[in-house]
Amino acid sequence: MRTLVTGGAGFLGSHLVKELLNRGEEVSVLDDLSTGREANLDAVAGRIDFTRGSVLDRATLRAAAEGCHRIVHLAAAVGVRRIVQDPFGSFERNVLGAANAVQVALETRADLAFASSSEVYGVAHPGPLTEDSRLVLGPPGRPRTAYGLSKAIGESLLAAAGRDGLKTLVVRLFNVVGPRQRSRYGMVLPRFAKAALRGEPLEVHGDGGQRRAFAFVGDAVATFADLLAEPCAWGGTFNLGEDRETSILDLARLVIERAHSASAIRFVTHARALGPGVEDFPRRVPDLSRLRALLPRREPAPLESVVDAVLADRRLAGASRGA
Ligand SMILES: NC(=O)c1ccc[n+]([C@@H]2O[C@H](COP(=O)([O-])OP(=O)(O)OC[C@H]3O[C@@H](n4cnc5c(N)ncnc54)[C@H](O)[C@@H]3O)[C@@H](O)[C@H]2O)c1
Repeated sequence: MRTLVTGGAGFLGSHLVKELLNRGEEVSVLDDLSTGREANLDAVAGRIDFTRGSVLDRATLRAAAEGCHRIVHLAAAVGVRRIVQDPFGSFERNVLGAANAVQVALETRADLAFASSSEVYGVAHPGPLTEDSRLVLGPPGRPRTAYGLSKAIGESLLAAAGRDGLKTLVVRLFNVVGPRQRSRYGMVLPRFAKAALRGEPLEVHGDGGQRRAFAFVGDAVATFADLLAEPCAWGGTFNLGEDRETSILDLARLVIERAHSASAIRFVTHARALGPGVEDFPRRVPDLSRLRALLPRREPAPLESVVDAVLADRRLAGASRGA
């Protein structure tokens, strides 16, 4: 029983790899290290097969998948800032990557799990969002829409192949946070943690009243692995995240408090932070009923300890990593 994790050197991937190994599985990783780092896999070096290569190269993906009974496709361009910086490259990476994952899974007869995103829900829903909520996307030309669209196309590719007999699982991840997440691509908690530890202002977009729900990565990958192991989950689509809400402004205050920082909070407009035309959403919270009907509920890590873990990780990484 061997699982190929594409994007396994990334934030979520490296935690998931460790979780699968802890459960006695064999794991291979394919990653081009575009945003991931080989160092993220230091703790499991020698216990995995690692290939540095791209999912966009189907022959490389096929070779990495050889002998694997399952592919977990996480490799993608992630993060609003990254998508805004490189809209075409991101779209290509996400759509062609998913198409290749489907094709290779069909060829090798592996089951295929796909990391989708809450971004597929688009702009219109205050939530909580159920898996059957209608997707309301903004104009397709906008980078943020393109990210949601790229993930939605990935889901549609899996659904189409599912009708051809491929065993598929779609996991729509909401905000997941924790050690090893990088701030460079605009992820809010590592960004706040980095600023607080340097005594720099925490940049809050808009008035900070937008509400989000953050899941700790340890909880998220354990649930992800539970879904992979649950036969009744296959063929389905599941929201995965946390439904405990906080405003971004309260998150900024919490980070400052936990870091014992003298940092101020600086409000900047969305347009200034992300560029004109990049929308932000007032609320993004999952409805987790489907997940909870299938799996026993996990007690989520308190937000304070999640923030503490991120701060500890940033202290360890130091300013030199520049993540
Ligand atoms: N972290 C979250 O809160 C969140 C939320 C929603 C969805 N997701 C999804 O989860 C997955 C993992 O996200 P993450 O937060 O760990 O981001 P990440 O950037 O840390 O991980 C992505 C990994 O994929 C690799 N990669 C990118 N393009 C590749 C390619 N062409 N070939 C091989 N490897 C490639 C990167 O090097 C990186 O290691 C993504 O599919 C993302 O869309 C994450």
